Amino acid sequence: MTSTSDIRQSFLDHFARAGHVVVPSAPLVPQNDPTLMFVNAGMVPFKNLFTGLETRPYTQAVSAQKCVRAGGKHNDLDNVGYTARHHTFFEMLGNFSFGDYFKEEAIRLSWDLLTGTWGIPKERLTVTVYHTDDEAHALWKKIAGLPDERIIRIATSDNFWSMGDTGPCGPCSEIFYDHGSHIHGGPPGSPDEDGDRFVEVWNLVFMQYDQQADGTRLPLPRPSIDTGMGLERISAVLQGTHDNFETDTFRMLIGESAALTKTPIDAPATRASHRIIADHLRSAGFLVADGVLPANEGRGYVLRRIMRRAMRHAHLLGAQEPLMHRLVPSLVSAMGAAYPELSRAQALIGETLKLEETRFRQTLDKGLKLLDEATAGLKHGDVLPGDVAFRLYDTYGFPYDLTEDALKAHGLGVDRGGFDAAMAEQKARARAAWAGSGASATDSLWFDLADRLGATDFIGYSTTEAQGEIVAIVKDGVEVSSASEGDDVMLIANQTPFYGESGGQVGDTGRIEGAGFCIAITDTQKPLGKLHAHAGRVEKGMVRVGDTVTLSVDGGRRAAIRSNHSATHLLHAALRRVLGEHVSQKGSMVAPDKLRFDFSHQKALTAEEIAAIEREVNAEIRANLPVSTRLMTPDAAIEAGALALFGEKYGDEVRVLSMGRPGDSGRTYSVELCGGTHVNATGDIALFRILSDSAVSSGVRRIEALTGEAALAHLASQEALLKSAASTLRTRPEELPERVQSLADTVKRLERELADAKKALALAGPATGGAQEPEKLGAAAFLGQVLEGVEAKALRGLVDEAKARIGSGISAIVAVNEGRASVAIGVTDDLKAMVSAVDLVRVAAATLGGQGGGGRPDMAQAGGPDGDKAAEAVAAVRAAAAQALGVAA
Ligand code: ALA
Repeated sequence: MTSTSDIRQSFLDHFARAGHVVVPSAPLVPQNDPTLMFVNAGMVPFKNLFTGLETRPYTQAVSAQKCVRAGGKHNDLDNVGYTARHHTFFEMLGNFSFGDYFKEEAIRLSWDLLTGTWGIPKERLTVTVYHTDDEAHALWKKIAGLPDERIIRIATSDNFWSMGDTGPCGPCSEIFYDHGSHIHGGPPGSPDEDGDRFVEVWNLVFMQYDQQADGTRLPLPRPSIDTGMGLERISAVLQGTHDNFETDTFRMLIGESAALTKTPIDAPATRASHRIIADHLRSAGFLVADGVLPANEGRGYVLRRIMRRAMRHAHLLGAQEPLMHRLVPSLVSAMGAAYPELSRAQALIGETLKLEETRFRQTLDKGLKLLDEATAGLKHGDVLPGDVAFRLYDTYGFPYDLTEDALKAHGLGVDRGGFDAAMAEQKARARAAWAGSGASATDSLWFDLADRLGATDFIGYSTTEAQGEIVAIVKDGVEVSSASEGDDVMLIANQTPFYGESGGQVGDTGRIEGAGFCIAITDTQKPLGKLHAHAGRVEKGMVRVGDTVTLSVDGGRRAAIRSNHSATHLLHAALRRVLGEHVSQKGSMVAPDKLRFDFSHQKALTAEEIAAIEREVNAEIRANLPVSTRLMTPDAAIEAGALALFGEKYGDEVRVLSMGRPGDSGRTYSVELCGGTHVNATGDIALFRILSDSAVSSGVRRIEALTGEAALAHLASQEALLKSAASTLRTRPEELPERVQSLADTVKRLERELADAKKALALAGPATGGAQEPEKLGAAAFLGQVLEGVEAKALRGLVDEAKARIGSGISAIVAVNEGRASVAIGVTDDLKAMVSAVDLVRVAAATLGGQGGGGRPDMAQAGGPDGDKAAEAVAAVRAAAAQALGVAA
C-alpha cells in the first residue's frame, strides 16, 4: 500500500520534474486575503499572482496546502463524521501556472500522473468540462483518448470555480474516479450523480477572470492554471478504499481513539464519534500550530467550536478524562515530518486541548442534562426552542453547532431564529446597562463599534503585514463613511497586524494602503481592550468603509519593541533572583528605543547588583532558546509559576510566555502572563544594558534599559566618551582611573596650600578694615578685623590665633567673599562670664543682614549677605563688648 505521505511526495516530485517550484504550505490564517477566515484551497496563497498584483521569480508552482473548511463559503463542519469524505481539515495537492501553460499542459500533466505514475486504469476515470468549453473537451479527447460519453459537459456552477465572492475564478474540468458498480451512484450530470460511486478526485481550474464584488468579471492579465486534488481522496483511491476515513492516517488516529476509550472502531454508536475526533484533532492541531487559539470570537471561536464538537463525542464514547490531548503524539507522528510546524507546536497543541477539554467538561454534564430535559417531549422532526439553545451556549459553553450535532442523531432540529433573537436580546441588555453607566460620548462610540463589529482579529504575533477590510472610520469623534487627504482619522479593520497599546507595550506605527490612497499610522490604541484603532492621517486619496487595504507595521520599530518586551521579562526574572522574591512588577513601558521597569524594592541598587542582573539577562540571551507561548486559565498559569502583569485585566484564558533556560526546579527562567509581542528566540535580543536605577516613589524603583542596536550604540558612545577624556588628559583609557585619581589628589593638595597661603597673607598683610593691633577696652583688648579673600572655614583658626595673641580680650573677624560676609567672634576664657561670643556674633549678623549665629560663649560664628557693612559690624561688636564690660567705648 502506498502511504499518504508517499502519495504527497510523489505528487510534488511529478510536478517538480516538469519544472514547477515546490512551495511549502502557507499558514492556515490567510495573510493576503481579508475576506477569508482560513485558507480553503491550494490557490489562496497565490491569489495575487493570478491577478497580477504580485510577481515572483517563478511562473509554475506545486504545493501541498493545508486547508480548513469550517466557516465561510466552504463550510463542511456539519457533515463531518457522517459521510465518507467531508473534513474540516484536509490537504490540497495543486499545480499552478501563472500565465505560463494553460489547458493543454494542465490536462496532460494530470493525466500522466494519474494513469502513468500512479497507474490508475483509464477505464476508471471520467471527466467533466464546462458546457461551453469545447477546447477542453477536444483536449481530453486528444490527450486521454476518452470517449465522448466520459467527457461530460456540465452547465452548473459545479464546473465554474471561484474561491469566494470575489477573486480569481474560471471554468473547470473535474476528474472523477469510478469506485465500481458495488457502490450506488451514477456519473456526474446523471440523475444518480449524488450517489457515491463516482468521486471527484481532481479539479483543474482554467483561471480566466477576477470576480468583482459588484458581480462583474474582469479578465485576468493572463490565463492561468489552478488545480486541486484532495490528498485524502486520492489516498483512498490509491489505497483501494472508498472511504477517506479508511486511509492510513485516519485509521491510525481512529485506532488510537478507540484504544484510549476502549470502544469499538466501527459500531453504529461509536463510528461517527471516532471519525469526528480524528478529523477535528487534525484541524485543531494545525490551527493551533498556526497561531490560532480558542476564543469567543472570530477564528478562535471557529477553533473552539471544532474542539468542543470533538470533545462532546469523546464524552459520548464514555471518556472519563480529557481525551483529545492524548491523541496529539499520534497526530504528530503521522504528519509532523511533512509539516514541521506541527512538531514544533506539539506541547502547545496538547496543553491547549487539555485546557479546553477540562474546562468544557465542567459544564458539559449539566448542559447535556438540560438538553435531555428540553427534548424529552420532542419527537422526530421537531425543533428545540431557540432560547434553550441560547442558554446552552451562554451558560454551558455549547456552541450552536454542537447542539445541532447532538440533536441530529435523534432527528431533531434547532430553532435558529429563536437562538439569534435570544442573542440579540442579550446584546441589547448589555447595551442598556452600558448606557446607564454614565459613559462619555467617545466611550459610547467605541462601545457601539465593538458591539457591532466584534473584536478586531489581531494577527500580528506572526506577521507585520496583512490585508484587511476597513470596517469603520472615526473622524473628530464621530463615525464617517470615508475620509480624504489631510484628515486625521481612526481606522478599524476586520483584522490587523498592528499591536494596540496595552500591557505596557506601545502601539504600532506604519502604513495602511489601498487603491489610490495611503494613511500614515502614528499610533494604535485598543479601545475597550478589543478594537484596534489605527490613528493616522490620510496622506493621499480617499479611504472608504469596505475598502480592502494592506496594513504594514513599521517592521524595524516592531522588532525593537519585541526585543525590549522580551528583555523586560528576563529583567523581571533576574531582579527576583538577584534581589529576592519580594520584587514584583509595579509597571512597565516597552517602547522601540528603550524599556522601563518599575518594581518594589526599598534600596538603590549597588553597582554589583546591577552588574549581576546584566550578567543574568545576557546569559539567557546568549542561550538563544525559543520563546514559547501557551494558553492557560489565569489560575493554572499562576500555579505554574507565571508572574502576572501589573494592572492587566485577564480573561478566561491567558497567553503564557516562557523564555530562557530551564532552572534546577525544571521551571523555565521566565514565565509570565502576557499578550505582547515577543522575539522568537532570546538571542534575537542580542544585548541587554541597564542605563539607570532610580526611585519612583517610596519602595518603588525604576530601571531603564536598552537592548540590541540601542544597547550597542550606548556602549559605543560610552567608549567614545572614555577615549575623548583620555585624549584630553593625554593618556590611554585604561590608565584613566589612575590619572584622574592623581589629578584629584593634586587639586586637593593645591587647594589646601592655597588656603594656607591666603591665611598667612591675611594675618601678615594689611587689613582692609579694622585694626591690626588690638585696642584697649578697659582692661581687655579688642581686635576687630575685616579680611578679604579668606574662606569662612579659615576664620575659626584665625580667631583662635588672635585670642592667643591678645591674651585677654575679644577678637572679631569679618571675612568678605564675593560680597557675602562671614563673621567669627572669640572671647578669651577670663571674660566669657561677662561677655558672650554668641551675643556679640548676633549683633554682627544683624548688621550684616543675616540672622542668628551660633557657637559657644568663647567662640561663635555667623554670616550675612551685606558684605559692604563689614566695618560697621566690627564697630557694632566693639560697642556691644564695651557695654557688656561696663567700659566707655
Ligand atoms: N481551487 C480549486 C478547488 O479548490 C482547484 O477546487
